[in-house]
Amino acid sequence: ISLRGRNSFGVDQRAARLVEFETAEDLRTFFAAGIPGRWTVLAGGNNILFTEDYDGVLLTPVARQIALLSDDGDEVRLRVEAGVEWDDLVEWAVERGLWGIENLSLIPGKAGSAPVQNIGAYGCEAKDAIRRVEMYCVETGNLLTLDAAHCGFGYRESVFKHDLKGRVIITAIEIRLSHTPRPKLGYGDVEREVEARGGATLRNIREAICSIRRAKLPDPAVLGNAGSFFKNPVVEAPVAERLLAEYPDMPHYAAPEGRVKLAAGWLIDRAGMKGYREGSVGVHERQALVLVNHGGATGGEVIAFARTVQAKVREKFGIEIDTEVNIL
Ligand code: EPU
Repeated sequence: ISLRGRNSFGVDQRAARLVEFETAEDLRTFFAAGIPGRWTVLAGGNNILFTEDYDGVLLTPVARQIALLSDDGDEVRLRVEAGVEWDDLVEWAVERGLWGIENLSLIPGKAGSAPVQNIGAYGCEAKDAIRRVEMYCVETGNLLTLDAAHCGFGYRESVFKHDLKGRVIITAIEIRLSHTPRPKLGYGDVEREVEARGGATLRNIREAICSIRRAKLPDPAVLGNAGSFFKNPVVEAPVAERLLAEYPDMPHYAAPEGRVKLAAGWLIDRAGMKGYREGSVGVHERQALVLVNHGGATGGEVIAFARTVQAKVREKFGIEIDTEVNIL
């Protein structure tokens, strides 16, 4: 099966087989038949780079229900199936006056993937809304529920990328939203864009975020990409101080445990790589954290190019930037 239309990078690799599932029962049936070699989950394909053909089975969630679990007049709890398009969920919530995920507007991908890398943008992270994650356990065939406190959420991190990797398949998430307005406008241009639209309503915030994203991030339907290709590096304070002495305008943000988060996009930009291109692969010209496929790039070419970008940043700043995209 061709993966071309199933990964936002638009690389033309192939997989041996792809199986769509809706329920835990579907997964039970699939695994009961004996695992035919490797398998992995492919949801929206927005955060994955296939560097070669995949000889195993790709499991794709297609269940798309959003169910209201409770509404006490303030707090609202929803069960959202893994195959729901994340941005459809945001729109669903905004339409109903529910606060909590509006800053995560227009993030491509499925709801079931949101907890895996704890998607985040504009001062908000999926973990702020996620209460529990429902998952199928491959070893036991049971359906389990994991409370958010046990999900190991951090910056682009969760237990699903580590201990539970390859052991569970997320079937749904439970999120908590609120009828009470809680605008979060502190990040970058958000406040200005929201004010320009007449103030902090849910709809205005959603529109402001969408417009900021559209201005900076390439549309995968037009230019293949997987959003931020690298994570923002989190460094020890003395490392940040050393760099700030040399580059006083370097963006930096406080991170847990006294560490400092740097902006990988700025580092790549300042290393002179913004808009840089080798063959079909390049650094996006408006946001250096994003690598783009100008057309016809193979996964192998993208990863080779990424190594070049990492080397340039290492050479200039002595900083390692890790990939955020899942490399398969
Ligand atoms: N910057 C540059 N040049 C660039 C890009 C950025 O100088 O080419 C500077 C900006 O001026 C700013 C700083 O770097 O001072 C941070 O840039 P930005 O606000 O665009 O955010 P980011 O750190 O590059 C992160 C997320 C994005 C998310 C934005 C907004 C990661 C890996 N990426 O990017 O998430 O949309 O913040 O919150 O944390 C994604 O994960 O795929 C993604 C797009």
